[in-house]
Amino acid sequence: MRRPIVAGNWKMNTTVDEGRALARDIAAQLGGDPGVDVVLCPPFTGLSPVHDVVGDGPLLLGAQSLNANARGAYTGEVSWTMLQGLCAYVILGHSERRTYFHETDADVNAKVLAALGAGLTPIACVGEHTEQRDRGETASVCERQVRAVFDGVAAADAGRVVIAYEPLWAIGSGQPATPAVAQDVSALIRSIVRELYGDDVARQVRVQYGGSVTAANAAEFAAQPDVDGALVGGASLKAAEFAGIVRAFTPL
Ligand code: PGA
Repeated sequence: MRRPIVAGNWKMNTTVDEGRALARDIAAQLGGDPGVDVVLCPPFTGLSPVHDVVGDGPLLLGAQSLNANARGAYTGEVSWTMLQGLCAYVILGHSERRTYFHETDADVNAKVLAALGAGLTPIACVGEHTEQRDRGETASVCERQVRAVFDGVAAADAGRVVIAYEPLWAIGSGQPATPAVAQDVSALIRSIVRELYGDDVARQVRVQYGGSVTAANAAEFAAQPDVDGALVGGASLKAAEFAGIVRAFTPL
């Protein structure tokens, strides 16, 4: 049985004080261990303050990116060494990183390898844009991206990787994928993992759906056998809404 994982991608939102307050509100909404890995992903500046709020409680912390180099002359970047001890997860290859900051499949792969080497759990994002969907290329685009994520990943580490299927047309649009599409692509992702690493790893790997997930629609995604959680943007900035999504994924 895979433990569900719901991550809140706060993107470039929340000041230090707002981040602390949001984390406090989410913790209050959820109470104890919700039976789901709940990962808060504030901007880099929020990691330490939110860490102070969540302590060693059930809420986990993630970064939104990392630099695959350990240190050096990379002005403005944050390396994996700086995240060690501060968070356990890191979102990698989000479509906004790929689109606005020109991250390639090879860049994402280098970051995944750096994260795994550092003991961080990567949440690696894949997904097609609108034109690719309209040309019927969803499967081929996602397959290329998933294979790139796992390039050079040892079998012993592969089961730790979380994949988030986030079609670009669904992100921030209020137009989520249908649960059937989320299930089909998640099953495809698992089948690629099975081909690469075998059955045991394929059963271990968690696949999230992301893109306009809300408390109102989360249960439909949670009902899909290959969807193990959600990567949530906008709705993760509202404590009650985010808690509703987490509850939808709580095993009965
Ligand atoms: P959204 O964003 O939930 O606001 O659609 C999802 C994401 O970008 O991770």
